[in-house]
Formats: sequence, C-alpha cells, structure tokens
Amino acid sequence: MSELSPNLAQNGTVKNIDSSSTVAETEDIDFSKLSERPRPLTMERQRSYDERSFLSELSVGMSPRLSIRNIDSYPRNMDHFENVFSPSRRSGFNTPRSAMEVEPHPMFAEAWESLRRSLVFFRGKPVGTIAALDNSEEELNYDQVFVRDFVPSALAFLMNGEPEIVKNFLVKTLRLQSWEKKVDRFQLGEGVMPASFKVLHDPVRNSDTLIADFGESAIGRVAPVDSGFWWIILLRAYTKSTGDSSLAELPECQKGMRLILTLCLSEGFDTFPTLLCADGCCMIDRRMGVYGYPIEIQALFFMALRCALLLLKQDDQGKDFIERIVKRLHALSYHMRSYFWLDMKQLNDIYRYKTEEYSHTAVNKFNVIPDSIPEWIFDFMPTYGGYFIGNVSPARMDFRWFALGNCVAILSSLATPEQSTAIMDLIESRWEELVGDMPLKVCYPAIEGHEWRIVTGCDPKNTRWSYHNGGSWPVLLWLLTAACIKTGRPQIARRAIELAESRLVKDSWPEYYDGKLGRFIGKQARKFQTWSVAGYLVAKMMLEDPSHLGMISLEEDKQMKPLIKRSASWTF
Ligand code: GLC
Repeated sequence: MSELSPNLAQNGTVKNIDSSSTVAETEDIDFSKLSERPRPLTMERQRSYDERSFLSELSVGMSPRLSIRNIDSYPRNMDHFENVFSPSRRSGFNTPRSAMEVEPHPMFAEAWESLRRSLVFFRGKPVGTIAALDNSEEELNYDQVFVRDFVPSALAFLMNGEPEIVKNFLVKTLRLQSWEKKVDRFQLGEGVMPASFKVLHDPVRNSDTLIADFGESAIGRVAPVDSGFWWIILLRAYTKSTGDSSLAELPECQKGMRLILTLCLSEGFDTFPTLLCADGCCMIDRRMGVYGYPIEIQALFFMALRCALLLLKQDDQGKDFIERIVKRLHALSYHMRSYFWLDMKQLNDIYRYKTEEYSHTAVNKFNVIPDSIPEWIFDFMPTYGGYFIGNVSPARMDFRWFALGNCVAILSSLATPEQSTAIMDLIESRWEELVGDMPLKVCYPAIEGHEWRIVTGCDPKNTRWSYHNGGSWPVLLWLLTAACIKTGRPQIARRAIELAESRLVKDSWPEYYDGKLGRFIGKQARKFQTWSVAGYLVAKMMLEDPSHLGMISLEEDKQMKPLIKRSASWTF
C-alpha cells in the first residue's frame, strides 16, 4: 500500500490513506452482454405530437439567447417528456454542442475544460469526476469521486452525448456495493452504496485499485442514505437519455436496485411511510438537525422509488418489489403532501392548533405545540406560495426551507402541479432571502446562538450563513433550473444563471458562498469544485434545450392524487 501512488485526474495527489480503509482490487463485470451502442431508438417513434411540435418550436428558436429570455410561453407542464426516450444523438464530441450552435457565454467553454480536467480514470477508462481540483487547500476527502457530486457531471456528459463515463461510473459503484462494509465490528447493510471512492495507481505494478468510503471513514461515521437513491436516479437518466435499457436490465443492476430497496423498504417500528435516518446522511453531511425525516431524503426516496418502478423487471424477484414500491409511494405522497406542506393557510392552522388530542380524529396528529413555531416564518411566508418544510416528527416541525428537497419534489412530482407552482412563487417572492447575490441557499434561515450550539454541536464550519447553515451553493443551480423548466418558468432560472455568471469564473468556481446574500466566497470553500462547474453546465444546457429535462424529471402519477386541503391563498 505504501508504494501506491494515485492516478487522480492526472494531477491529484493522495495523502493520509487510512490504512484501515477497505481496499480491494476490483474486477470488471463481464459486460459483453451489453450492447456497445445504444439500442435502436424504437421509443423515438412514440413521441407525442405535442412533444414533437414543442421540440421543433424550441429548436428553431433556441439558438439566439433572446429566445431563452423570451420564452414566457413555456409549457406549464412538461409531462410528456417523461415516458418517452429522448436519446441524445451526439456522441464522441469533445466540444459541447452549444459552442457550435449558439454564441455561448465565454465561461461555458471554460467550464467544459474544468469538467474534463476533473475526470478520474480507472484502468484507462473514465469512471467519475473528482470533487474538487483545488491544490491550495488540504484535500481531506475532496480528492474522491462522490456519488452525489457526480450526478451533475453525469447529466452534463449525457446531455453532451457522452454516456460512456456514466455507464462506467454506474458499473464501478455497483461493484463497490458488493463489498463488505464495517464500522468497527458492525456490518453495514448489503445495499449501502458508497459516499465516495478514489482510484489509486501503483506505478510499479502498473495497476489501479479502488478505495471506497461507505461512512466508515467519513467525518461523523454516517452512511450516505442519498447515494443509493442517486444511483437509481442516474441509472434511469442514463437509460432515458441513451435509449439503452440493456444496462438496467442486467441481472447485476436489477440486484443492485433490489438491495437498495431492501434497505429502505424494510419493515420496522415505523408509524410513518417516511424514511428515518441519522443526521448528516445526505448533501448536508454534518450535524445540522437534519436527522429524523429530512425533506432531502424523503424527496430522493420518492424519486428513486419511482425510477425503480420504471427500471425493475416484472420477474419473480422484481414483482414483489414493484408491489411494495407502489404501496409505499401511495402512502409517502399522501404523508408528504399533507404534513410536510406549508403555506399561509397551513401555517395559520398550525398557529391555532389545539394540543394533547388523543384519538384517530386528532387534527394536530403530531402534537406540535404552536409556541414552537419560530418567529421568522410569519414574515417569510408569502401570501402566494408554499414549500415542503425540513422535517416532521412527533412534536417537531422543522420549518426551515431546504432547496434540494423542494426542487427534487418538483422534479419527481412528489409536489402536485399546484404545489410546484407554489414553490416557484415562494422562490420568486423571497428572492433576496433564497437567492440573493448567488444561487442558491442550501437552507434558510441560518441557525445561530444557543440554537446553533445545541443543533450543530458548536460546529465551527457551520456557523450562521456559512456552508450548510444558510450558505449558498452554486451546484443547486441545475436543480433550480430543472424545476423552473418543469413549472414553465425559465425566466427565473435565467435570472439565477446571470447572477452565477457574474461571479463563478472570477471566483474560480467555489464550492459555496457565505453571508445572508451569498456575497462572500465561503470561509473554507474549495475552489474548482466540480459540481459547481457541472451544475452550471447542466443549467445552461437544459435551458438551451429543455427536452433534456426528461432524463431527470417524472410526470405526475394521476393515481396518487392528493387529499390535501388546498390553501385558499392559491390561485390557479
Ligand atoms: C461536502 C458536502 C457534500 C459533498 C462533499 C464533496 O462534504 O457537504 O455534500 O458531497 O463536500 O464535495
């Protein structure tokens, strides 16, 4: 091990290799069964007339930036992109499409260069992108390929007609899933996907080795609940974008999905359909009061279940999972839409809640004490608009806004069309708070003082308006843009992208910004943070060609109609 030297993005270096970490030489799955080229695009023919005409309308006018600015007549609903394959017809190009067709912003080409510099190779094949290429800072684990960080990179490559790296990544991480994972003497569930991995190169033996972290090396020792969900979501994005279902159909992939599902669908003592988890098990990977039933995990859970439903085979083993997924989706959407949703009317109802109700007919089911409603929410809640709050559990509602969960709720159609519209209304009317000078606040508002001490355990990295505690993360731009397109409000995305363009390159693609308005480069932010780069690229490409949205968006399932009381403040 001591002789190993890294082969990370050609110029990465590896320090402090934890000798207790799991290290294993991995072998490639025999993928000879996989077609090298995507399957014939039979689904292409099934595009609806609406989609075809919409696409041609857009592609005619998409080249001028003007057309992006002026599309106020985007369809309110992009549902028809859901169940059709929209394979990219490009492949093998090194130059992004936009460079040829539109007059791109100069930073677009620069972003592509940065993204390519971040590639990580395993035995000569690209398998992912490094988290950050910042040589000025101590690496910690930023020299790794993070599963969640790779998602925007993967989408950028898919949108640019380069699916190979995404396939390699999916296959590699699937192999890692089968490793035995232990924290001290405790063995983790079989289905757990890694938070991150890195490639070590031994120049003497000229061999590559993978080293992965499932939470056993992570700060805080938390397993990444989101990784498995992102993996399934990405598998569907790959399938949808290429039209190649042979990867998803492989027995290894089917099994990988079933293992992830086994973990999150297992029966226990739960009284709610939401998924119970530890603090810091997702993008916010430190103690931030996001334990219990955080919105980020619930939205990703919902989306992954829906993607799995599209990908699982109806065979003996698959059938049972499909049944369980359908039941869970039903209960989960009801629970989320009813109890996590907050708008003016809901807030007023909670404000007037009676407590200590014991019966099936209780209105205040979780016994939330109205005095626990924080002051800020009364000013923050606009007359029009609403959102899914951060967490709901017995006697506890975390009223904070979390960007990722709300955007994924829109993309997965966990949010009803009305709720999606309301979320966008909220973003528009609370622009200064949620976007400010740099998109987008990971959560709002920051916690400070005594609350910060109790909730974060005095975390010096998560001081108020910094990092996970109210910091602004450029990566979230792609999620915001996707949500904007889906709800027919691209002008909001355009405004956010313009803000990002005014600073990101100048500031060398920071990981996050600090301050109430996001005016300062984050205290400990890495520069050349890959997902800041990729998030920008994906946002740009999606806005230029909204048909890309289909790979990351799911239409509303009419079977899951909500039973929620609608707020009188909503106008449609
Ligand atoms: C930080 C972020 C986490 C991300 C990692 C690598 O730990 O909180 O979400 O995956 O950096 O960029």
